[in-house]
Amino acid sequence: MVSDTLDIQISKAATSRLSTINFENLVFGKSFSDHMLVADYADGQWQNFQILPYGEMMMSPAMSVLHYGQTFFEGLKAYKLADGRVSIFRPNKNAERFNKSAERLCMPQLPEDLFIQSIAALVEVDQQFIPNKANHSLYIRPFMFATEAALGVHPSSTYRFCVLTCPVGPFFSKNLKVKVETEFSRACDGGFGFAKAAGNYAGSMLPAKKAAEEGFDQLIWTDSREHVYVEELGAANIVFVIDGKMVTPSTRDTILKGVTRDSILALARSWNVPVEERRVAVTEVLEGIKNGKLTEAFGVGTAATITSIVEIGFNGEIFALPNPAKGEFAPKLRRVLDDIKYGRTEDLNNWNYIV
Ligand code: PLP
Ligand code: COI
Repeated sequence: MVSDTLDIQISKAATSRLSTINFENLVFGKSFSDHMLVADYADGQWQNFQILPYGEMMMSPAMSVLHYGQTFFEGLKAYKLADGRVSIFRPNKNAERFNKSAERLCMPQLPEDLFIQSIAALVEVDQQFIPNKANHSLYIRPFMFATEAALGVHPSSTYRFCVLTCPVGPFFSKNLKVKVETEFSRACDGGFGFAKAAGNYAGSMLPAKKAAEEGFDQLIWTDSREHVYVEELGAANIVFVIDGKMVTPSTRDTILKGVTRDSILALARSWNVPVEERRVAVTEVLEGIKNGKLTEAFGVGTAATITSIVEIGFNGEIFALPNPAKGEFAPKLRRVLDDIKYGRTEDLNNWNYIV
């Protein structure tokens, strides 16, 4: 959908925080660029798109998001290409998912072109914050929240759309030790696991904290009915290499449909690697590790990129995976996807949106 150019009011920050950011040691999501974008939904339409200095917002303590959690977010990245241009990776996919989340949470749609133009305008204004360094990028965090000051349990009549950007390095600093979660659930059938709802992350914090106390970096969520099938990681989708095939849980209403997942499956298919999207039982994974058929496992996500898994914990037992550096797929996928994102190779799929 393409409409007229969006009218965005721009108020520039009086001073830049650029010189205060330590680009050599970026902690994910802690350093913000100079500006943010905000727009408000009222009287049935989106209005007042503004780029403002990054800063605090006024809010009513009765604002319904604080009480009933009507809010969700997206995550995507902008890159400095090898030829100096600036590109955003597949923002149309995030726009699509943004609206799926909005629909499920009974929040207004934001037309795809408004989503993309807002983000592109903000990235353009703060493009000097895009790190020019391997494995670094500008993380873009669009989100929407309910703003009506009302304690009744009903959809808010007003909302705010906001976009922040952060220069970031790798989200995971090392390969992952993950635990199969068999007590808690992230999402249930008929719920909203497929949406990037804040509530999905709120509910994951206690189980993730318990797993961290046991030495694990992430959880492998399993289906909430039986805890028999693998769903995804806390902040990424999960992919296995079994018998030379790339195997990943098929997406359903409990699983986030990741843009990275979609991208790597498309690359694998273009290389004629067999890809299976299907239910994956925990027992299949653990037996595959034991009998050597499962050769790789990795998390795939915007923040996570492609991060290999080295250990899987299940009911107190640890299953060690082969050395990921020797893997046939994860290193190649990482290299090829990075070459596309950083503009070092031809973007055959038109994934880069040039700002
Ligand atoms: N699953 C969860 C729970 C996530 O938080 C993410 C991160 O966005 C993903 C999967 C991967 O999605 P994407 O590749 O679109 O970032
Ligand atoms: C992302 O990859 O964009 C995520 O949402 C992961 C996380 C920071 C929640």
